[in-house]
Amino acid sequence: MRMVDIIEEKVEGKALSDEEIRFFIDGYTKGSIPDYQASAWAMAVLFQGMTPHEIATLTDAMEHSGETMDLSAIKGIKVDKHSTGGVGDKTSLALGPLVAACGAKLAKMSGRGLGHTGGTLDKMESVPGTNVFLTPEQFIDQVNRIGIAIVGQTAEVDPADKKLYALRDVTGTVQSIPLIASSIMSKKLACGSNTILLDVKFGNGAFMKTIDDARELAKTMVQIGDDLGRDTRAILTDMNEPLGFAVGNALEVQEAIATLHGQGPRDFTELVTQAGAIMLCQAKIATSVEAGRKKIQTAMQDGSGFQKMLELFAAQGGDISYLEHPEKFPKAAYITPILAPRSGYVKAIDSLEIGLSAMRLGAGRATMRDKIDMAAGIVLQKKIGNYVEQGKPLAYAYTNKTGVEEVLTQIQAAFTLDENKVKAGPVVHEMIAL
Ligand code: URA
Repeated sequence: MRMVDIIEEKVEGKALSDEEIRFFIDGYTKGSIPDYQASAWAMAVLFQGMTPHEIATLTDAMEHSGETMDLSAIKGIKVDKHSTGGVGDKTSLALGPLVAACGAKLAKMSGRGLGHTGGTLDKMESVPGTNVFLTPEQFIDQVNRIGIAIVGQTAEVDPADKKLYALRDVTGTVQSIPLIASSIMSKKLACGSNTILLDVKFGNGAFMKTIDDARELAKTMVQIGDDLGRDTRAILTDMNEPLGFAVGNALEVQEAIATLHGQGPRDFTELVTQAGAIMLCQAKIATSVEAGRKKIQTAMQDGSGFQKMLELFAAQGGDISYLEHPEKFPKAAYITPILAPRSGYVKAIDSLEIGLSAMRLGAGRATMRDKIDMAAGIVLQKKIGNYVEQGKPLAYAYTNKTGVEEVLTQIQAAFTLDENKVKAGPVVHEMIAL
C-alpha cells in the first residue's frame, strides 16, 4: 500500500477502506509516513469529508495507537464527560463531585489550559498540595473508594492524535468535523469509561461558532461513540458569554464551591444540573432527566456535593482548608474595576476576548511552556440582559502584573451595551442522543 494512492483517493472524494485508514494511522504514529503526506491527507479530508464508517474506523485506529485505560477493576458503570472548551468553564469541579455524591463513578482524565480556554488540572492545582498525577493503581483505587478521581493522563494515550493535532494546528486543517470528532472521541474512548457526555459549546468563545456546526459535530461524535459500543450523549451549550462570573483558576474554584453550596450563578448552576442529570441517567442511577435533576439539586442543598469535593481534594493531597475557607486563596495585588462607558443593557459579551484578556492578566498560557498565576483572572459583575449604569463596574480584573492598561480597555470593549432591554437566552439548548 502507498500513502500517495490513499491521498489521491481522498482528493477524488472516494471513501477509504478500513485497511487504508489503519495503514495511515499506524505509519504516521510510527514515523514511516512523513508530516508532508499526513498534511496533504488532512487537507483532502477537510475538503472532501469522510463517511460515518470512515470516521468510526479512524477513531478506533487512533484510540488503539497507544495505551488504553482498563477500568474494569472499578465496580459499576464508569461515567465520563468532556467539554469542547470554553471560557469560565469550571464544570468538572462542581459536576464531578455532584454526580459522585449521587453514586456515579467518575474516573476522569483532564487537560491543561491553552490560549483563551482554561483547564481543569490547572484549576485543581490552585488548591495548594493537590496532586493530579496518580499511578493507574492509585487512580482506580481512589475511584473505588470515593467514587471520583480527576487526573492528568496516566498512560501514553492516543499518540496518533498528539502528532496529528499538532500538525493540523499548523497546516490550517483543524476545522474539519470528521477530524475534530475523531480526535476528541479517540482520546475519550481510550480513557475507558462506559459512558460519555459531551458538552459541545457554540458561540464566539467556542470552536464551533454556530449552533448548526455544534449540532453536526455533536451528532458525529455521538454516532462514533454508539458505533464503538459506548453510551454517548451530547448537550449543545452557549458560549456567547463566559460561563458564570469567574474566569481564572482560583477564582473559578471559588465559584465552583459557591455552586456546591447552592449559591452559584444561574447559568452555571443550570448547566451542572442538566449535565449531572443526564450522567445519572447514563449511570442508571436516575430513570429520567427530571429525576436526575432532583438528585443533583438535593446534593447541592444537603451539602453532600461539597463533602465529595472535600473528599476528592483530600484524597489527592490538596489542603481542603482552602475549600472550607475560600478567603484563604491568595488575592491578586491589583483588583481593578472595569467601568461601563455608558448606561444600558448588556447585549453581548465577547467570550473569546474575555478569555484572551484573562490569559494576558496571567491566568492562562499562550504556549504550553508558560507559567500561570492562580490568582489572576476576571470576575464579571454583569451578564447578558443585566442593566448597568454609566461608571459602575462591568467586571473586575485581577492581576499581579503592572502595565496591563491595554488589557483593561479590551475587557471593557468586550461588552456591548444597548439602550433596549435584552433577554438572556438558555445556556443548555439541546440534548443529542441516538
Ligand atoms: N479538541 C481536540 O481535542 N481535537 C480537535 O481536533 C479539536 C479540539
